[in-house]
Amino acid sequence: MKIDLHASLRAHNTFGFDVSASHLAYLESKSDVVEFVSQASSSKQPWQVFGGGSNLVLAKDLPGYTALMQIKGKSLLKESPTHFYIQAMAGESWHEFVEWSLNNGYPGLENLALIPGTVGAAPIQNIGAYGVELEEVFDSLEAFDRNSQEFVTLNKQDCNFSYRHSIFKEEPHRYVVVSVCFVLPKQWQAKLSYAELTKVFANQQSLKPIDIFNQVCAIRRSKLPDPQAIGNAGSFFHNPLVSDDLYQQLKQQFPQLVAYPNGDQWKLAAGWLIDQCGFKGCVMGRVGVYEKQALVLVNHGGGTGEELLKLAEQIKKKVKETFGVSLTVEPVIFN
Ligand code: EPU
Repeated sequence: MKIDLHASLRAHNTFGFDVSASHLAYLESKSDVVEFVSQASSSKQPWQVFGGGSNLVLAKDLPGYTALMQIKGKSLLKESPTHFYIQAMAGESWHEFVEWSLNNGYPGLENLALIPGTVGAAPIQNIGAYGVELEEVFDSLEAFDRNSQEFVTLNKQDCNFSYRHSIFKEEPHRYVVVSVCFVLPKQWQAKLSYAELTKVFANQQSLKPIDIFNQVCAIRRSKLPDPQAIGNAGSFFHNPLVSDDLYQQLKQQFPQLVAYPNGDQWKLAAGWLIDQCGFKGCVMGRVGVYEKQALVLVNHGGGTGEELLKLAEQIKKKVKETFGVSLTVEPVIFN
C-alpha cells in the first residue's frame, strides 16, 4: 500500500479546496483496506476514507491518516428468473458504472446518471435524483467492520436508509465499504414520477432506458455546475422536513412555496427558500451560490472551506429568520 506524506487533496475534493493530508493512502484491494485500518488505528490518530470527494467540505489540513478508495471492478454477480444482481467495487466512478450497466443490458439505474462520486460513497448518503433513491435498487454491500475487524455483508435493513441518510452516518468511523450489489428487475419499467421527466416522456411510445439516461444528463447539465469547471458538492443543504402545521402557516404567508408531501410531514425545496432570501448567484470573495440553482454553493477558484462555511452560516441564519426553518448541511465537514 502506497502512502504519501503531506499530500495535497486539491484534486481529490470537487470543491477544489487546497488542503493537505499528513498521510495519504491509496486503497487498491481489500488487503490494502485491512492494512490501512490496522496502521491508522494503531497510530491513535484520526483517520478517514474518501471516495470521489464530491460530498466533502475540507476546511483545514487533515492530521492522521486519509485514504482514497480506488478498488476497481464491476460484474454481473448472479441472476434469478426475475432479477439481475450487479456488483461494483467501491472505487468505481458512479456515473461510469451507470453507463456500464446500461451498455450491458442491466437497466434501472438511468435516473441516477451523472451523480458525482464513487460507488462506495453512494450508500453512505443514500443518493437519489429524478424520482429514484439508491435504497430502491440496493441489494447489499460488503464492508470492513472496524469493531469485529473483519469483512461483513450488510443488507438493506442493516443499512437503515432514509432520505440522504444511512447507518454509515450514524456510525461514521465503523465501516469501510468495499463493494455494493444492486438488484434490478429484468422487466424494466420507466420511472417517470419526476415532473420534468413526466412532461418530456408523457406520450412517448417504446421508451428506452437510454432515453431517460440522456434526458437526466441533459437536465443535470442545465441545472448543476460541472465540478471540473466550477468547484461544488451538488446540493449543499437537505430539503427540510416540516410539520403540517408549519407548512400550512408558511403556505398562507408564501403562496408560491415549493413543497412535496412526505408521510404526515412536508419536504420543502431548500433551493426555493434560499432563492427567496436573495442568495442565488451571490458572490462572497472567492466562493458563492450558483447562479442557476440556489441549493448549490460554489468555489469560483482559490476559495477556502472556511469562507464557504461562513457563507453557509449566513444562508442558514437568513432562512431561519425569514421562514423559521433550520437548514442542515448535506456534505461531510472537516473543520
Ligand atoms: N428552486 C428555486 N430556486 C432555486 C432552486 C430550486 O425556486 O434556485 C425550486 C424549483 O422551483 C424546484 C424546486 O426548488 O421546483 C426543487 O428544485 P430541484 O427540482 O432542482 O430539486 P432539488 O430539491 O433542489 C433534489 C436533490 C438533488 C437531485 C434533484 C433532482 C436534495 C437535497 N437534492 O434537488 O440531489 O439531483 O432533487 O431529483 O435532495 C444532491 O443531493 O447533491 C443533488 C444534486
